[in-house]
Amino acid sequence: MNTAAERAERVELCIRARDLKLWYGDFQALNGIALDVKQGLVTGLIGPSGCGKTTLLRCFNRINERYGNVTTTGEITIHGKNIYDDDVSLSELRKSVGMVFQRPNPLPISIYRNVLFGIRVHTRRRALNRAKRDEFVESALREVDLWNDVKDKLRMKATQLTLEQQQKLCIARLLPLKPRVILMDEPCSALDAEGTEKIESLLDSLRGKYTVVIVTHNMAQARRASDECLFMLMGELIEHAETSEMFFNPRHEKTEMYIQGRYG
Ligand SMILES: Nc1ncnc2c1ncn2[C@@H]1O[C@H](COP(=O)(O)OP(=O)(O)O)[C@@H](O)[C@H]1O
Ligand SMILES: [Mg+2]
Repeated sequence: MNTAAERAERVELCIRARDLKLWYGDFQALNGIALDVKQGLVTGLIGPSGCGKTTLLRCFNRINERYGNVTTTGEITIHGKNIYDDDVSLSELRKSVGMVFQRPNPLPISIYRNVLFGIRVHTRRRALNRAKRDEFVESALREVDLWNDVKDKLRMKATQLTLEQQQKLCIARLLPLKPRVILMDEPCSALDAEGTEKIESLLDSLRGKYTVVIVTHNMAQARRASDECLFMLMGELIEHAETSEMFFNPRHEKTEMYIQGRYG
């Protein structure tokens, strides 16, 4: 029998990993990660360069497997479903677990068609009439606070937008697929301070609706933008705590050294 507390914990759990190990050829990049990411929160993933942040993030939608010579063992469940089960469709997994990269990577086609690109790949053509398409585009662009900027130039090439707008567009194009999780790998690293601030305020509005895991090397950003933080070092998860707790009262000396900028 489960206690009420255990049941409540399960309800709010989104990503659960146990004994997760990953090798690139002979090199072990993840050494037995166990974590529980809560639903609807923004979870920051921090740690020095090369510690495995990108690798871990890419496990959550199994995109690592695109790169040759990767071996993964252990367990990852998302909303209770083991994503390594034989019956998991990679295309369904990547619909529900969307990803945003360091450099905005819109396709060199119109803004309008960028937003629809994912849903077009996943939906039968007839199911998407003009009205439905327009609705998807407007609603996704509104959700990332880009609609007012671009509503009069939806046919413009997306690559002509500013980098910050391009990054918002890359988030917007995930939304018609109704993701439950959005993974972001240093999404502000190509942006200036103003662009960064806008993406951070967007993060705020995504909170609650989506589970967001964001890799950042910017400690101030982790502190401002995340509810909880994961600190990694050399392929291991050292500490997982509420963000304020991690920054003001870290449990591990290694975490403290890192957030004080003593290495990394
Ligand atoms: N495709 C790959 N092949 C071999 N080694 C890799 C590959 N990708 C990453 N690595 C290695 O795995 C470790 C973790 O890398 P990564 O996850 O990119 O770290 P981070 O994102 O924290 O900087 C590093 O030592 C890196 O050199
Ligand atoms: Mg990285």
